[in-house]
Amino acid sequence: MKHIVSGIQPTGSLNIGTYLGSIKNFVKLQESYQDHHFFLFIADLHAITIPRDRLELRKTIKEVAALYLACGLKKDNLSLFIQSEVEAHSQMSYLLQCFTYIGELERMTQFKEKAQKQETGVTSGLFTYPTLMAGDILLYDAEYVPVGDDQKQHLELTRDIAIRVNNRFGDFFTVPKPLIPKVGARIMSLTEPTKKMSKSDTFVKSRILLLDDENIIRKRIMSAVTDTDGIIKFDPKNKPGISNLLTIMSAITNTSIEQLVTTYQNTDYKTFKEAVADCVVAELKPIKEKYSTIINSGELDAFLDKGKADANRVARKKIAKFNHKIGLGRKQK
Ligand code: TYM
Repeated sequence: MKHIVSGIQPTGSLNIGTYLGSIKNFVKLQESYQDHHFFLFIADLHAITIPRDRLELRKTIKEVAALYLACGLKKDNLSLFIQSEVEAHSQMSYLLQCFTYIGELERMTQFKEKAQKQETGVTSGLFTYPTLMAGDILLYDAEYVPVGDDQKQHLELTRDIAIRVNNRFGDFFTVPKPLIPKVGARIMSLTEPTKKMSKSDTFVKSRILLLDDENIIRKRIMSAVTDTDGIIKFDPKNKPGISNLLTIMSAITNTSIEQLVTTYQNTDYKTFKEAVADCVVAELKPIKEKYSTIINSGELDAFLDKGKADANRVARKKIAKFNHKIGLGRKQK
């Protein structure tokens, strides 16, 4: 069976950017790729590349796990697991470092951005992060990797590493292809719409969390930064705020941006923002309700245990084969 792999870092409460760029897309893809098995995980090993409070991290791991299910993923063709519970991920990351050049890692935009923001020292874990991500994907011979726009470069590096290994040792890894949603692959900050909406933005008004209360959601959208010309049209360069709200509405309602522009072009920003707020509130309400039943149920742990067993089965086999392939250990009898 072919595999689809993706992960989310538990670095803070999930926002609608992560949701529209990843989980909502996973739910859709489960419908269109019913013949594929999905390995989705909580990327906790990635989260520690930047110092975290350990209790906060542990809480967020569980929250992200519960949100995956609360957003409507079906369980039949899914293994949901916590990355650190599958040791092969750390092992594979080290092995792939030996097939990755320093120059390639130095070129990674996310590394450069995150390193710049780092007030304490920059860890070597942050630098080698893309090899951990490559390992996450190559361990499962993923055919497709659904991600948002900001992960494209990491995916390209993963493909380069896979091709490099294949050229040296014969076809060993499946070379993965990214699946990037047409709308919603880059949701922008509500306060600075030229910047990506991010879990780590210190400005809380920049984002809407999946678990935010209705009145907070409405406030954030009504106060989202726009412009003063009063025209509702899609023009990300000159009208990033309005274009971002159109994108959010389009990704949530599955209505094309052109259609939304036609519907709202003769209204004012207040009316349009109220409509955006209504659709975000309606989208998140059932997620919040489901979340509150899942988070404290035994169902979540049982499903994570199953996911851990499924992932370990596949990943351990692949890492053993890879060790052997590259000449590590003793000759197998
Ligand atoms: P992370 O945790 O930053 O984000 C999780 C997913 O959400 C997407 N995303 C967004 N999409 C649209 N608009 C936004 N504002 C937005 N913010 C985040 C991301 O593109 C991503 O798809 N390194 C990854 C996690 C990871 C992974 C992997 C992904 C680890 N191993 C293997 C795929 C395969 C990350 O930090 O994503």
